[in-house]
Amino acid sequence: MGLPSLLTDSRAIAAVAAAVLLSVVLATRTTRTSSHGALPLPPGPKPLPLIGNLLDMPKQRPWVGFAEMAQTYGPVISLSVLGKRIIVLNSVETLVEGLGKRELAGRPHLVVAGELMDFNRTMVLVPDGPEHKAHRRLSHIALNPSAVQAFTKIQTESIRRCIDRLATTPDYDKEIRVAVARSIVEMVYGIKIEGIDDPFVVCADTVFEALGDALVPGRYLADVIPMLKLIPSWFPGAHFKREAAQVRKELDTMCDYPFGLVKEAMASGTAPYSFVSSLLDGVKSGSIEGVPEEFISNVAGTLYGGGVDTTYSTILTFLLAVSINPRVQAKAQEEIDRVIGKERLPVFEDRVLLPYVRAVVQEAMRFYPTAPVGVARLATKDTVIGGYFVPKDSVVIPNAWAVSRDPGSSGLPADEFHPERFLNAGPPPDPSVYAFGVGRRSCVGQTVGENFVFIMIASLLASYTILPAQDEEGRDIKPKLAWLDTTLTRPEPFGCRFVPRA
Ligand code: HEM
Repeated sequence: MGLPSLLTDSRAIAAVAAAVLLSVVLATRTTRTSSHGALPLPPGPKPLPLIGNLLDMPKQRPWVGFAEMAQTYGPVISLSVLGKRIIVLNSVETLVEGLGKRELAGRPHLVVAGELMDFNRTMVLVPDGPEHKAHRRLSHIALNPSAVQAFTKIQTESIRRCIDRLATTPDYDKEIRVAVARSIVEMVYGIKIEGIDDPFVVCADTVFEALGDALVPGRYLADVIPMLKLIPSWFPGAHFKREAAQVRKELDTMCDYPFGLVKEAMASGTAPYSFVSSLLDGVKSGSIEGVPEEFISNVAGTLYGGGVDTTYSTILTFLLAVSINPRVQAKAQEEIDRVIGKERLPVFEDRVLLPYVRAVVQEAMRFYPTAPVGVARLATKDTVIGGYFVPKDSVVIPNAWAVSRDPGSSGLPADEFHPERFLNAGPPPDPSVYAFGVGRRSCVGQTVGENFVFIMIASLLASYTILPAQDEEGRDIKPKLAWLDTTLTRPEPFGCRFVPRA
């Protein structure tokens, strides 16, 4: 749901009315002059009095609407909505410049999700400051490109299990999701899960679903009128406080329960190597100092939510694209057969030997980025992007989808699946540069995610020819190239068949 769709329900109308009043108070913030000499604000559609650009906000798939605006106003756009300044970055240059700034390491403050549900304890929402810095340091120790080599075995095993089952399962997407969830839970805690009905997975999925819901603009009035958080939970209409309290409890369980299991296993000497056990070992040996244990459990708890849907969605985009693209499959399979042979499945170390498969992976990341408008940042100080003034407290949106439409000099249409675009001269921007964010809040799971996606895609191509589903008469059902209108998107449900290769 985009911002203007708020106007369709009464709760939202109340929210907008209240926000209009609030905007009068905040108006000074959006109109004040640049502290960076005479630099102007970025251009954008002309705002109306009080509501600003509320009516200009794209109704659906905001990434598409913002990209269209960029055609008129250029890569950096400025909008003012109900007193809040929003800056959208639509080119690789401005996205990299902007997100790389120290002043953009903040996240927008969310009353319900951040404070009441307590997602501010997790790495994705924790405000910029010493705690976030400690979370990053911990993640870097255990997930830097050389440390994650320790996890490729876990990833490969989980993928092999999934590949074996795909020939017979009617639920291919469930199988892929289990493979991703399994490898992340085992990597983080050393715990093996069987399926998506595992209690940890159920709890984590509930928690992150609640977060996704709370992030829908206008979902909670308290995000517009923060003082509502002070009303008691029993008060009529305070159901948001009861809902938030429930989520908070589940978030505590999600972070603390598996963490406790690792500690018990370590005490009895049975804990396998994992993200958590390696960091707890570091604390015990003194190589990691000044970090409360609870930071480790908070970071660990975030990794499931940060990693599962993003990785799963990228694999689904790959499957959707290649199911109607036999040419690309045949070319990739020829490369795999020639370089690796048919006796074994590809492993991570084969990556350097498979340039076409690598380009398929890049193209899957580019074709429809799973976080099309990234994760919003907050400017914690005045700054400058692309030569424009960006005031403190602006919300900055990196439009990764707009960057993914940049054709480079290949001339190949952006909405067609052509891995060749990354092998020709003048390639488009590399998705590994923009699809994971940049700078102090960039994705800490980038290497581990990219490794998983490579092994999974190479193994799928080596094992199966992927075709569209068929109707009762055996005719192919051409899938729709359509993605959900959600902040973390994935293809709309589609059918496909996995035909084992000889
Ligand atoms: C294809 C896979 C993935 C994609 C496309 C992706 C994308 C992103 C993006 C766009 C951000 C926001 C970055 C920013 O604000 O600049 C992010 C943040 C994050 N990602 Fe990923 N991600 C992926 C996989 C993973 C995995 C596998 C993990 C964990 C193992 C993970 C954990 C996180 C965390 C914890 C953050 C928050 C970082 C912070 O706020 O400091 N991600 N990711």
